[in-house]
Amino acid sequence: MDYQNIKFEKDGAIAILTVDRPKALNALNSATFHEMDHALRSLKEDTRALIVTGGGDKSFVAGADIAEMSTISAAQAREFSALGHHVFASLENLSIPTIAAVNGFALGGGLELALGCDLIYASEKAKLGVPEVTLGVIPGFGGTQRLTRLLGRARAKEMLFTADRIDAAKAKEIGLVLEVLPADKLMEHCKAVAAKILKNGPLAVAQAKRVVEYGADQDLRAANELERQGFAVLFGSEDQREGMAAFLAKRPANFQGK
Ligand code: CAA
Repeated sequence: MDYQNIKFEKDGAIAILTVDRPKALNALNSATFHEMDHALRSLKEDTRALIVTGGGDKSFVAGADIAEMSTISAAQAREFSALGHHVFASLENLSIPTIAAVNGFALGGGLELALGCDLIYASEKAKLGVPEVTLGVIPGFGGTQRLTRLLGRARAKEMLFTADRIDAAKAKEIGLVLEVLPADKLMEHCKAVAAKILKNGPLAVAQAKRVVEYGADQDLRAANELERQGFAVLFGSEDQREGMAAFLAKRPANFQGK
C-alpha cells in the first residue's frame, strides 16, 4: 500500500509510525485510519517495539478530522467511531510495547491515539486535551473510557467537561504522561526506552503487557489468576532457561523470543 497520510519506518527492531498530514495538524480522517490499520497489520516478527508520533513540528495529532465529520449522519458517525475503535484496539492489542511520542497538540482523537499506547512521553511544547464538547460531541475513539481508567473519574470528567488544553507539566502531574522532554530530545528518549525494553525477554515483556491489560478489566482474584498462568507459561520457554542460566553464570542473557 502506498501511504499518503502516514510514514512507516524501521529503525532496527523499532518501528516508527508517524501520522503525517501536517497541513491539517495530522488530523485523523478515514483514509489515515485505513493506512494505520494496514501498517499495524503489516508488522513483522522482527519488530519488537513501536513508536507513534506526529509529522511536522507542531502537532502529534489534533484530533479526528473535523472537516470530514462536519456533515456526516449519525449512522456514518457510528461507522467512523467503529473504525477509530478498531484501529486503536489493534494498537492496544499488539503484543509488543508501544510508545506515544507526543510532540505537540494531542487533542481529541490525538489524545485517544496516545491512550492506545502503553507508554506516553511528551515534549515540553505538547498540549493535551479532549475538546470534543466544544464541537457539540464527545470523544468517539475510546477516549472517555481509557482516560477514565487511567486518571480516575474526576480527572477524566474535568478534562471532558471543561475541554481544557493542559500543558505537558500538568499532564505529568496528573499521570497522563510519564515524562516531559525538551522537544529535540523526545524521540531519542522514546528510542532509549524502547532499546532498554528490547534487552529483556520478549516473551516475558509480551506476557507482562497481556496480564496488565487483561487483568485491569478483571476483579483481583481473576486478575491474579491471569498472572499465575502468565508466570507458569513462561517456564515453557527457552528464554526463561536462558535468562536464569545467564544470571547464574554471571553473563548477559541472549534472548531468542522462544
Ligand atoms: N480536523 C481538521 N482540520 C484540522 C484539525 C482537525 N481536528 N485541527 C486543525 N486542523 C487544520 C485547521 O483547520 C487548519 O487548516 P487550514 O490551514 O486549512 O485553515 C490547520 O489545521 C492549522 O490549524 P489552525 O490554523 O487552527 O492552527 P492553530 O495553531 O491556530 O491552532 C489548534 C491549533 C489549537 C490545534 C486548532 O487547530 C484546533 O483547535 N484544532 C481542533 C482540535 C479539536 O477540536 N480536536 C478534536 C476533534 S474532534 C475528535 O477528535 C472526535 C473524536 O474523538 C472522534
